[in-house]
Amino acid sequence: MTTTSETGVLSLDELRALDAEHGMQTYGRIPVAFVRGEGTVLWDSEGRRYLDFLGGLAVTALGHAHPAVAEALADQARTLVHVSNLYFNELQPQLAARLDGLIGGGGRVFFSNSGAEANECAIKLARRYGQSNGGRARFEIVTALASFHGRTLATLAATGQPQKHEPFQPLPVGFRHVPFADVDALAGALDERVCAVLLEPLQGEGGVNVAPPGYLEAVRGLCDEREVLLIVDEVQTGLGRTGRWFGFQHADVAPDIVTIAKALGNGVPIGACWARAEVAEAFRPGDHASTFGGQPLAARAALAVLDVMEVEDGPARAARAGRVLRELLEALPAVDMVRGEGLLLAAELTPGLESGAIVAACLDAGLLLNAVTPTALRLAPSLLVSDDELEEAVGILARVLAAGDPAAPDPGPAS
Ligand SMILES: Cc1ncc(COP(=O)(O)O)c(C=O)c1O
Repeated sequence: MTTTSETGVLSLDELRALDAEHGMQTYGRIPVAFVRGEGTVLWDSEGRRYLDFLGGLAVTALGHAHPAVAEALADQARTLVHVSNLYFNELQPQLAARLDGLIGGGGRVFFSNSGAEANECAIKLARRYGQSNGGRARFEIVTALASFHGRTLATLAATGQPQKHEPFQPLPVGFRHVPFADVDALAGALDERVCAVLLEPLQGEGGVNVAPPGYLEAVRGLCDEREVLLIVDEVQTGLGRTGRWFGFQHADVAPDIVTIAKALGNGVPIGACWARAEVAEAFRPGDHASTFGGQPLAARAALAVLDVMEVEDGPARAARAGRVLRELLEALPAVDMVRGEGLLLAAELTPGLESGAIVAACLDAGLLLNAVTPTALRLAPSLLVSDDELEEAVGILARVLAAGDPAAPDPGPAS
């Protein structure tokens, strides 16, 4: 066994023991520790190579250790990391302007450190706007069943998964859930107490669930009719992953608020909440803040990410690679159907196969996937993934599936 004293790196056994003793046990972790990455490839502490088709849960959209992002980070770390939002920093407004341009213009941006925080900001802003436009009673937010919006108390309450609510009652009030992609149910829920609808354009954690064409347009129409804000949670779908810069851009709609995180820093924690200027103006100085949000290091990383995404045309690459990956997956006999958009895909397995066991066997064979439901695999590789890597990954999956459903434990929840 390799030891710390020999290499400076903990062995897996040592790491597990240390984590068991000192870490809060909130994750059902898979027994592997990654120490290095490059593009779509990861290496673990034992020197084994893996193809990363999960991208840190749809985060590393440009792959691991992208040289332009690494260089920008190193340069910024040598220059200025943090000053707090008491002062201007020259990168934050530039990043806000870039995001505004990608979303459609005419908006304002607040920066945070995660997806949940971006959604917290959206929730607070919608309530503030609801107060200023319809009085105190207008504070409820309608979200979809099977949605995922985060783990803070408010975003957990927004998340349409009642089983996740149970251990933490009482949750903040003011959230109602309706079935996803059900326009009539939404219409029934939009009474005079509601200030906003919060939706993922494509549900990620809930199973990579795609709404039928016309759904978002119908939601926008209802929101306009009832004077309710439309908040689109693009934390997982945003910045090219679905084949457009934002998932809502597959539909003919303009949201009032958009939340972004995961891919924005390619792994450096940063989130953003964009809102139409008129909505954003409901916030007054002192209403919302974050110590780290939009600090120079994170903003520099995000600017570098956007530069690379624009040069590489990340959305177009995701759309093309997504078509190739979908076709390769659809050709597998053990895959019943493939759903999703671009490079956010789920492969529904044939009855009898259990996704947790397939994920564990793929890990052993050098491929990272995720069991997004008990019967479906999620794939979310880097937008810059090569065709060779797509073929290699599906080749590994094909061999695992051909070997049958190995009895392995479910790795547990990912987020
Ligand atoms: C759609 C969506 N919203 C919000 C979140 C929460 O983001 P974070 O884990 O960065 O707080 C996630 C995380 O998976 C997500 O997929």
